[in-house]
Amino acid sequence: MSKLALFGGIPTRQKPFPNWPVFDSSEEQALLDVLHSGRWWSGTQAYHDSPGGLHPSKVAEFESKFAEYHGAKFGLACASGTAALEVALKAAGVGPGDEVIVPPYTFLATASAPLLIGAVPVFCDIDPDTFNIDPARLEAAITTRTKAIIPVHFAGLAADMDRIMAIARKHNLFVLEDAAHAHGAVSSAKHLGTVGDAGVFSFQASKNMTAGEGGIILTNNAEHAEICNSYIWAGRKVGRPWYEHYRLGWNYRLTEFQAAILIAQLSRLREQTTTRMQNGIHLNTLLSQVSGIRTLAVPSSVTVHPFHIYIFRLDSAAFGVERNNFLAALLQEGIPCSGGYSQPLYQNPMFLENKFHSNGQPISASAGWVDFGSYQELCPNAEKACNEAVWIEHRALLGKTEDVEDIAIAIRKIHENRHEFRAVTVSE
Ligand SMILES: Cc1ncc(COP(=O)(O)O)c(C=O)c1O
Repeated sequence: MSKLALFGGIPTRQKPFPNWPVFDSSEEQALLDVLHSGRWWSGTQAYHDSPGGLHPSKVAEFESKFAEYHGAKFGLACASGTAALEVALKAAGVGPGDEVIVPPYTFLATASAPLLIGAVPVFCDIDPDTFNIDPARLEAAITTRTKAIIPVHFAGLAADMDRIMAIARKHNLFVLEDAAHAHGAVSSAKHLGTVGDAGVFSFQASKNMTAGEGGIILTNNAEHAEICNSYIWAGRKVGRPWYEHYRLGWNYRLTEFQAAILIAQLSRLREQTTTRMQNGIHLNTLLSQVSGIRTLAVPSSVTVHPFHIYIFRLDSAAFGVERNNFLAALLQEGIPCSGGYSQPLYQNPMFLENKFHSNGQPISASAGWVDFGSYQELCPNAEKACNEAVWIEHRALLGKTEDVEDIAIAIRKIHENRHEFRAVTVSE
């Protein structure tokens, strides 16, 4: 039995995993092309003399390429995934006093986007086997004020869209897929982000495609697309004078530099997704043989799972090591990992203290004060996920089969050494 690196032994990993982001001369050239073109933004007004005419917009090119890749009619690029959520919801008519059902195990933006447009997030627990919103609990969360549902395809794994859509249609609710983790993901022969009424993606630095920041909305509805575009462009209307504003919008535009990088990133998406999926499935098989490790269930409808994060649950009692000790040991073995969210969203001070408006007003006139503390009872699976999850960065799946085999070796090594932890508690 070899000694754990945490206790002075030799780490399992002797070489680094692939770095993220991946880039090459195509990003470099694309950035220089935009730089020299003088067209640094996607608007049609030129602030320079361009003898050859205005260069074609990289943002427009990226919007159509990304939409085509996913089989959607319209793509509306914007500043971030958060911005995309706000815009897509507002353009769907969601506003003050409306309720939007969201999972509690997700990044803040899924719930802050409704809040930022005056609506109230209502948390619905997750399925412990997938970490996605549990359709069996959805109907209990619907009230007369419910306007929309935001299922998150967490880590890129498809939420159960068949059941979610059936419930949404029955109650006449708008479904906005949060596909921030799900670039290129496919379930039931459809790309995620195109199954609901609209879908949003993020291009923030950690995501499977990135320009540092950025987002996009996909929709097949021409009217929704037009209103989204207007909100991204300060409430303007295509074809109307520049200084005419029709609705209260934002400046949420993506720059030409970001779009140029994203076009290059998109050209690698298929290959990188295949690599991560092969490695992710292989690692699932290896880890399913280790006692106390519970890999997430991949539904049979899923044909492309991009493994934005490689996640498993650690049953500490069955494995024999507390999670904090496990994470510390795994890191020392050279595996980039964390415990993910330390609490479900509603446990954040912002929710518990109702800190939504600077003047102390409740969320909305109709909803009044919401006791977010009461969700602790309603969402036991999200609470458990925060205590049990182990996240491994997606770059660790971007290499060779031997690389993910090292992850399994490191985990088995911790298991073999489990008795060594009896006397120690590694601080967080
Ligand atoms: C599930 C989810 N939704 C939305 C977002 C928001 O994206 P952005 O960071 O681009 O605003 C993120 C980003 O981390 C996310 O993880």
